[in-house]
Amino acid sequence: MAKPSDFPDGFAHYPLYFSPAEQETLIAEVRTATETAPFFQPRMPRTGTPLSVVMSNFGPLGWVTDKEGGYRYEAQHPKTGAPWPPLPDILTKLWQDVTDWPDLPEACLINWYKDGAKMGMHVDRDELAVNAPVVSVSLGDPAMFRIGGPQRGGKTQGVKLLSGDVVVLAKEARRCYHGISKVDYGQSALVPKGGRINLTMRRVNL
Ligand code: SIN
Ligand code: FE2
Repeated sequence: MAKPSDFPDGFAHYPLYFSPAEQETLIAEVRTATETAPFFQPRMPRTGTPLSVVMSNFGPLGWVTDKEGGYRYEAQHPKTGAPWPPLPDILTKLWQDVTDWPDLPEACLINWYKDGAKMGMHVDRDELAVNAPVVSVSLGDPAMFRIGGPQRGGKTQGVKLLSGDVVVLAKEARRCYHGISKVDYGQSALVPKGGRINLTMRRVNL
């Protein structure tokens, strides 16, 4: 078991930050948003290989990726061309509670992990605001989050994330490799069609 001090500076885990009732509210927000901004299949730049999650976004900007355009932020949904639904108040409040960043996040990525989905080790680096914290919420099935250092392939620490948990990556942790190595599919009934939903808020512009 890793000591908290083994985690990079700026890593914070808030177990069960959201109550079961608040988790239901968040899932209802996701359901409403994805009626107008449906989940889309993200693809790797150049190869076009699909990621194992499907995605949507809240906020003035949304993170998208496809074969032709690669990783980027866009103000419109890639399929409908419509603006993304607004960031729910409950998420704005979370950002203000757990960060002291003066600006609000512009993007909140919605990742849906269905059976077998994971997220390879990566650094979030498509933002101009490279020092703004990243705040993420876990909903539904438990997942193993791994975080290493600023170099790919180094030693990593694991943290089990449960529904309602919040993670903040600030300071040094903001530049560290991280990913989801496994989701314990079928453990939670929160997500109506099963699996895990992760909401990741980011400030994009300076
Ligand atoms: C990510 O870092 O892109 C997602 C992390 C998570 O699903 O908890
Ligand atoms: Fe990330």
